[in-house]
Amino acid sequence: MSKKGILVIGSSNTDMTVKTKALPRPGETVLGGVFTMGAGGKGANQAVAAQRLGGDVKFICKVGKDIFGDNSIAQYEKEGLDTSGIFRSELPSGVALISVDEHAENCIVVASGANGDLTEADIEASRGDLENCGILLLQLESPIGSVLKAAKIAHEAGATVVLNPAPACPLPEEIFRYIDLFIPNETELSSFSGIPVADIASAEKAASAMQAKGVGKLIVTMGSKGALICEGGPSVFVPAHKVKAVDTTAAGDTFCGALCVAVSEGKTLKEATEFATAASALTVQKMGAQNSIPFRKEINL
Ligand code: RIB
Repeated sequence: MSKKGILVIGSSNTDMTVKTKALPRPGETVLGGVFTMGAGGKGANQAVAAQRLGGDVKFICKVGKDIFGDNSIAQYEKEGLDTSGIFRSELPSGVALISVDEHAENCIVVASGANGDLTEADIEASRGDLENCGILLLQLESPIGSVLKAAKIAHEAGATVVLNPAPACPLPEEIFRYIDLFIPNETELSSFSGIPVADIASAEKAASAMQAKGVGKLIVTMGSKGALICEGGPSVFVPAHKVKAVDTTAAGDTFCGALCVAVSEGKTLKEATEFATAASALTVQKMGAQNSIPFRKEINL
């Protein structure tokens, strides 16, 4: 990998999506509309976003020795991603069951399968890439021990380590000092900081609490409102584009992939956030995860 390269380590899923009028409540059956199947997984979505938006990207994940795994690798190769570091597992490939309602909100259940088998030994085997990348982008759909080990190796080698802490789960405090850029949404930030986040003032307070734990900078994604950049001084708010959303799946993933591309090009965090905001505004206007991720030429920035 080149020192400008973006290494994404994370999940690869096959998404099975049904659009429905309203998301089911516990015990309820709702009749949905059209069923679609496509490539997903937070790691894969972020890698594909970074690749389509102009990054030099390598993606490391673990898939099963099954048709879903074969199809996913073939798809990543078609995208132009470097797939030479992908591992295979005896476990089935990851699958996500997704419902999307008429307000574009979703509800996702993931059967992690092979994603949960990305071991610390696999991360050790990837040491060369971790020590040579410019940016390491991580999420939390992989085993935490492996995420921690990857973050530590890349940090010690001088890479910029970016963590999108989704889905939120308990993390060892040690990891925070390896994170240069933390990209949570409001719910995730509340959960990691212990401070309820409802607006810019509470997000700033929670961001400071994370910085006290060792995190470098934060970008708090605030859905259709926008994103808040907390670099230590006064925070900067970048408003979201006003668009008609049909499916918010992978909007956060597009944001993270786009952000890393812009940072790898030397853009400021404000410029990078504007770029990421424009990219995710396009994602929410189409159904599906990787199906909805835009290409660089679609962004006028
Ligand atoms: O962030 C969206 C992704 O979450 C989906 O593609 C699904 O696979 C789950 O991992």
